[in-house]
Amino acid sequence: MDSSETQTVMPSTDETADQPTESTQTTQDATHATERPATRPGPEPEPMPPANEPVPATNRSGHLPGTEEAGDGQLGPTGRPLPSFPEPQPLTAHGPARVIAMCNQKGGVGKTTTTINLGAALAEYGRKVLLVDFDPQGALSVGLGIATHDLDVTVYNLLTERGHDVRDVIQHTKVEGLDVLPANIDLSAAEVQLVGEVAREQILARVMRPILDDYDVILIDCQPSLGLLTVNALTAAHGVLIPLECEFFAMRGVALLVETIEKITDRLNPRLQIDGILATMFDGRTLHSREVVASVVEHFGDQVFHTVISRTVKFPDATLAAEPITTYDSTHKGAGAYRQLARELISRGGAA
Ligand SMILES: Nc1ncnc2c1ncn2[C@@H]1O[C@H](COP(=O)(O)OP(=O)(O)O)[C@@H](O)[C@H]1O
Ligand SMILES: [Mg+2]
Repeated sequence: MDSSETQTVMPSTDETADQPTESTQTTQDATHATERPATRPGPEPEPMPPANEPVPATNRSGHLPGTEEAGDGQLGPTGRPLPSFPEPQPLTAHGPARVIAMCNQKGGVGKTTTTINLGAALAEYGRKVLLVDFDPQGALSVGLGIATHDLDVTVYNLLTERGHDVRDVIQHTKVEGLDVLPANIDLSAAEVQLVGEVAREQILARVMRPILDDYDVILIDCQPSLGLLTVNALTAAHGVLIPLECEFFAMRGVALLVETIEKITDRLNPRLQIDGILATMFDGRTLHSREVVASVVEHFGDQVFHTVISRTVKFPDATLAAEPITTYDSTHKGAGAYRQLARELISRGGAA
């Protein structure tokens, strides 16, 4: 197969609105695409529809943009028929929370972006959501407009010192129903400090216990490692969501992650389950992206979310603006994708 066939096989249909700002990114993407071979050389598969349902400018049903039902048995971006994910029922009471850890020891795969935007989408559906920043980089806190260097008390203090009230540390965001337990670089010292503690793997679970009834969903944004902080997150969680970037080495390290999850399930947290694997930074125009998703589905089957998150500069733009995409550009298809993920998670039983 000619190497040019491994790249752009579908015309650009959906990114035109982003063009002026996305030019750098597009150039970078094109470079990557030429560098990387296709995962499985062979005949080119049928072109698939672009990721996620298109978001119309005006919404016929009067629903939030991106909340149209997929259904109709059309093939989704993962190559499987796309079910419809109905708009969730409003909740009449809140809590206890289901806790989900966003986990992948690889950096830059979309953990933080998914935590912020899935959380915001769940909050739009009336869920009470807490996001726990569990990465010393503090990208989640910064991405929601919190000046992390000014904080006297963060999740670090809750982990390492007695006598703090977790409710005093939680901050509200501009999004109704969306709260954050912030972190900053202090957290980088926690791992070493906690090593000698009794039940060192269960400290985050203990910290969160008093607030479980206040929320419907708690999402923990893990750091890119499988160290003690991540083990704490997995011990405190009911489920794990694994974001995977649609690129050549996406699956590297996933076996080790799954092994770690199995060990935690055996030894520390028998209720822990894998809630799903989420393909991120998908580019439906490239054969490469579609082949990566196909091989992820081949390995993990129904564990892979039907929802796929496309690559778009709107995500870093929204982070710079310190907002979720759902408020930064509510009608953008990236916002629609995270709303669909929220509905898919709820319909799978991964959230209330
Ligand atoms: N779907 C996407 N399209 C384009 N850029 C993205 C997307 N998701 C995340 N990014 C950007 O990629 C970088 C890494 O994402 P991030 O969510 O911080 O990953 P992680 O938390 O796994 O390290 C960030 O700059 C983020 O804005
Ligand atoms: Mg991150």
